[in-house]
Amino acid sequence: MMRRGDDVKRFVFLWPYLLLSVSLVLSSCGPESTSQDVESYLAVSLSLDSNNDLEPIQPIPLTISLDQQKVRLGDRLFHDPRLSHDNTIACSSCHDLTKGGTDQAYRSTGIKGAIGGINTPTVFNSGLNIRQFWDGRANTLEDQIDGPTQHPAEMGSTWPEIIGKLQQDESYAKDFSTIYADGMTAATIKNAIATFEHSLLTPHSRFDQYLRGEQDAITSLEKRGYALFKNYGCVACHQGANVGGNLFQQFGLFTDKDTGDDRVDRSPAKTDDHENHRHMVKVPSLRVAVLTPPYFHDGSAATLPDAVRKMARVQLGRHLTEKEIAAIVAFLYTLPGQYQGHDL
Ligand code: HEC
Ligand code: HEC
Repeated sequence: MMRRGDDVKRFVFLWPYLLLSVSLVLSSCGPESTSQDVESYLAVSLSLDSNNDLEPIQPIPLTISLDQQKVRLGDRLFHDPRLSHDNTIACSSCHDLTKGGTDQAYRSTGIKGAIGGINTPTVFNSGLNIRQFWDGRANTLEDQIDGPTQHPAEMGSTWPEIIGKLQQDESYAKDFSTIYADGMTAATIKNAIATFEHSLLTPHSRFDQYLRGEQDAITSLEKRGYALFKNYGCVACHQGANVGGNLFQQFGLFTDKDTGDDRVDRSPAKTDDHENHRHMVKVPSLRVAVLTPPYFHDGSAATLPDAVRKMARVQLGRHLTEKEIAAIVAFLYTLPGQYQGHDL
């Protein structure tokens, strides 16, 4: 049971993290980013380490209130290939819920075998992200849907074409007219899919059980991994209920920008200072990362240990030992949780 005093205490101890997040976001907009920010973060993290009340990661809510009719309709649409021009590709073709909400591929494959330009992120817990897409160009899940449905290398369709096809299906026409005053429109199709996506939460992970007070829910190796994840400063960027998804950062704070992919050069934080804003990406959620290889927006890390090793090097300027990497990976295995009552 949370007492009011606990709330105040949590707030008092959380504000350095909040400030840090703001400073990280701002620093990414300024010419001199970062090692200082990360160092000051580390000081904060270490000083807070002994405080059990304060955790930079919060559990995913166990329940969420959504209109179940819309969720079911959105579920059907999400799995319907008629949203693509040639009726071959559904959202679920690239965001397979049995593959951690991704295609587990280096690049996605759209209609007519078209190969996409960037690695597919998960749809699980995407409702917890502040924005959508690696570069954050969509503000909401609804807005995001205009991207894949119309992208020539994904579904290659148009709203009139999609609505024309779906309206021939009487059960859709009926459902839409029952649920939405406006019936079937681009906006209501997007609303149904987005409502379904909001239902794609993965609560009740072993780690969340631990956060809720069950000390034995994770092993001592996993606890060590979490301690490293905090003390080394991974939580400066991967934090909150989604263990990411709530700020933008550069890939490669401590090294040369070491990815050659310019696709993410469309960050909302971008200014006319072009060079400084290359490679800004939304910090990805690590909730289901263990299920979604390969890693990074360019798919350049084949395995989770590779991704963790590279993160420590390019984001924190550290070389981890293989044992430390194994402990952090063990911690990441405690994060996924359950979808519809089953372990992911
Ligand atoms: C051909 C493969 C493909 C299809 C089909 C597809 N997506 Fe995606 N999806 C991607 C890729 C690739 C990205 C990342 C694109 C980017 O960031 O520029 C993405 C990004 C997303 C994101 C943002 C997640 C995040 O963390 O930023 C959401 C949400 C999403 N897709 C939902 C959908 C929905 C809903 C549909 C169906 C209307 C759909 N996708 C169809 C490949 C696909
Ligand atoms: C300064 C911010 C920052 C810090 C610190 C940081 N990360 Fe990241 N992390 C990112 C960003 C940004 C990406 C996405 C990079 C890309 O794809 O361009 C990312 C991606 C990842 C991925 C790949 C996720 C995926 O689905 O592709 C993993 C795993 C990861 N980080 C783990 C860690 C670990 C473990 C640490 C600590 C050793 C850490 N990160 C520290 C910002 C950070």
